[in-house]
Amino acid sequence: MASDVNIVDAGVDRRRYEWILEEGFSGLYLWHARRTLHSAELVMVALVEGEPAGLVIPKRIGSDIGYVYYIAVAKRFRGMGVGGVLLDHTLRFFFEEGRREVYASIEDDNTESIRLFTSRGFRPTGFEELRRKYGGIRATKIYAEMLVVRGETLYVLELTRRDEVERGRGDSYSAT
Ligand SMILES: CC(C)(COP(=O)(O)OP(=O)(O)OC[C@H]1O[C@@H](n2cnc3c(N)ncnc32)[C@H](O)[C@@H]1OP(=O)(O)O)[C@@H](O)C(=O)NCCC(=O)NCCS
Repeated sequence: MASDVNIVDAGVDRRRYEWILEEGFSGLYLWHARRTLHSAELVMVALVEGEPAGLVIPKRIGSDIGYVYYIAVAKRFRGMGVGGVLLDHTLRFFFEEGRREVYASIEDDNTESIRLFTSRGFRPTGFEELRRKYGGIRATKIYAEMLVVRGETLYVLELTRRDEVERGRGDSYSAT
């Protein structure tokens, strides 16, 4: 299944992908995810046999940090590895830009999302660790950019070696 997934740039007409977010989020999250879909500098879409099946919105923070803003897979494609392919692609993308830390903020009751991120080695972190790494001022700025809200935990993955992002899953990548 994962081998049939192609990742492409969402291009300019992003409205046609809103339904994927509608299947994944509700309330304020949906409102914000939709807004971000249109304003983000980059949106990557997963195509399965040419059909949109999921999307990821990566965000660059400074010159060295990557952040997975939103990732969502259409209901009928879930549990087949599409989210994994999207995340692997995002990690590779950040790695190639020289970013060695990738963060994601995950709702504590979102078990599917926690599974997805921990399956790639993400671990829980928080403001304190950021402060130790970057000092108070930058940590505050980074944390604010990540929009971590109550009920969510920040996760991090340190990308130290290329082979960690080239997981050899046979994923197929095309233009982004
Ligand atoms: C979170 C979400 C993106 C996951 O997408 P998905 O395509 O279903 O995820 P995958 O099938 O790639 O599974 C990812 C990993 O989770 C694990 N996993 C998935 N289903 C599992 C299950 N039933 N039991 C155990 N592990 C499971 C696997 O380890 C898998 O890793 P693998 O590639 O090594 O097998 C999807 O559930 C979704 O869109 N949810 C709604 C939106 C959302 O909450 N987004 C995240 C917050 S931004």
